[in-house]
Amino acid sequence: MKQNLTIPIGQHKLPNLPYSYNALEPIISSFALQIHHLKHHKSYVDGLNKAEIELVEARKTNDFSLIKHWTRELAFNGSGHILHSIYWTIMAPAGRGGNPGLHTLNQINNSFGSFSSFQKQFSQTAIDVEASGWAALVWNPAWQRLEILAVEKHQNLTQWGSIPILVLDSWEHAYYVDYQNRRNEYVNSWWRIVNWYDVERRLLFAAKGQLPLV
Ligand SMILES: [Fe+2]
Repeated sequence: MKQNLTIPIGQHKLPNLPYSYNALEPIISSFALQIHHLKHHKSYVDGLNKAEIELVEARKTNDFSLIKHWTRELAFNGSGHILHSIYWTIMAPAGRGGNPGLHTLNQINNSFGSFSSFQKQFSQTAIDVEASGWAALVWNPAWQRLEILAVEKHQNLTQWGSIPILVLDSWEHAYYVDYQNRRNEYVNSWWRIVNWYDVERRLLFAAKGQLPLV
């Protein structure tokens, strides 16, 4: 039986974290993680639902005068919701995330030459991305290989169709509480809490064109 993956309009939900708030310490503190999840991510979910419901109303009343605003809200909050959902699952308590799986390692080697080249390029992308940004390892179904993209404004797609696999939140709210302005320390420590089992799972889903949110 085919699984129904449709999320009804205006009914997006904040996913639970797959671990407790203190599970990622000392890399990410319990306090920082709680604010990030319960305040920042929650506001994306609420904003996305609101935009979708406002657009239902616009279609009903045939009043599209605020279409620019709600379409922007749809992109901004929808992207925030998707990227944060992935970010939570691709992390695990230090030492529990395993090593890169066979499929992950093969694809990384094909796309970047070696794991260490991939890791250096990904880290530098996260450190250098301007202002509110992300580093994202994506599966590009058009050329059937991986790419590393900097997401400078997360509502803007940087390569259409790409499916995010491994994402690193470089917005100040992700690290400022724990690291202040030392973003490079956050990025370098972050590798210790990557969940490689989940990266492998996501890559296998991406090959089928799917992007699970939990
Ligand atoms: Fe964030």
